[in-house]
Amino acid sequence: MASQKSEWVLRLERLAAREGGFAYPWRSTIEEPHGEDAYTRLVLEHLRPELDVIEAGCGHGSDALEFAPRVRSYLGYDAVEPFIEICRRRAAAASLDNTAFVVADSSRKRAGRVPALDQSADLLITRRGPTNPVLDARRVCRPGAALIGLYFVAPPLPQWNDMLPVEVRMTAEPSELVSPKVLDYIERGGLRMHGCWAFDVPEWFDDPEQLLLYIAWNRELEFDEQRALDALGEVFAAHAIGGRVALRHRRFLWKAMVD
Ligand SMILES: C[S@@+](CC[C@H](N)C(=O)[O-])C[C@H]1O[C@@H](n2cnc3c(N)ncnc32)[C@H](O)[C@@H]1O
Repeated sequence: MASQKSEWVLRLERLAAREGGFAYPWRSTIEEPHGEDAYTRLVLEHLRPELDVIEAGCGHGSDALEFAPRVRSYLGYDAVEPFIEICRRRAAAASLDNTAFVVADSSRKRAGRVPALDQSADLLITRRGPTNPVLDARRVCRPGAALIGLYFVAPPLPQWNDMLPVEVRMTAEPSELVSPKVLDYIERGGLRMHGCWAFDVPEWFDDPEQLLLYIAWNRELEFDEQRALDALGEVFAAHAIGGRVALRHRRFLWKAMVD
């Protein structure tokens, strides 16, 4: 039977096979405070032993391993089966007995939904995962539940992008720092926005090789690595500040309530 999987799922399956999970392989320094650490702090402030938690788009389970020991139950789901297999292995190795990991796509467009019973969660979280669970939150969450989400915001292209060989140039259009899609889903999902925070800080690279890892990551490009590194050497010569080149690191963090 022909595969029904979306191209992005197949791409992330290949990433899992290549890199063993959804982890960023490059070395960089992100100025603090930034959205990733703010998300971790906000979620940790909410965790309590009597809570049932759902994590949407849990990847290979790094948050699950940290958060699950602090709550009653933890359900992580992701559309990418190899990620879920890694979650299950890591949870077993850590002797976590309050976790469940499920392969599911919660997109309504693809006839999916959050793989949880009605009114079964007190907290629904996602770190750069899908937005669509917001639309299903009133069903799966108990009244009084909170949702916390962190969204990747595509940064502007750097002014030196044109110095790179055409096949490795960055192409993603920048997105709006305050995500209109998230705000729309919160309203359509019948939730109450508690607060939101936009982060836009420098992410510093001190080595052209590390910057190339960032630029080429998960794009399955074919390119001449030495040519790309030579071009990045010129980027460092022309644009480094104190030996480091910066990209913008942007995230949108929000918290909504189910009344
Ligand atoms: C950017 S990754 C983040 C993974 C993990 N939260 C982390 O921080 O490492 C986004 C994850 O969301 C998953 N995802 C995206 N859309 C999804 C959907 N509609 N249903 C389930 N998972 C989805 C992807 O498969 C991917 O693992």
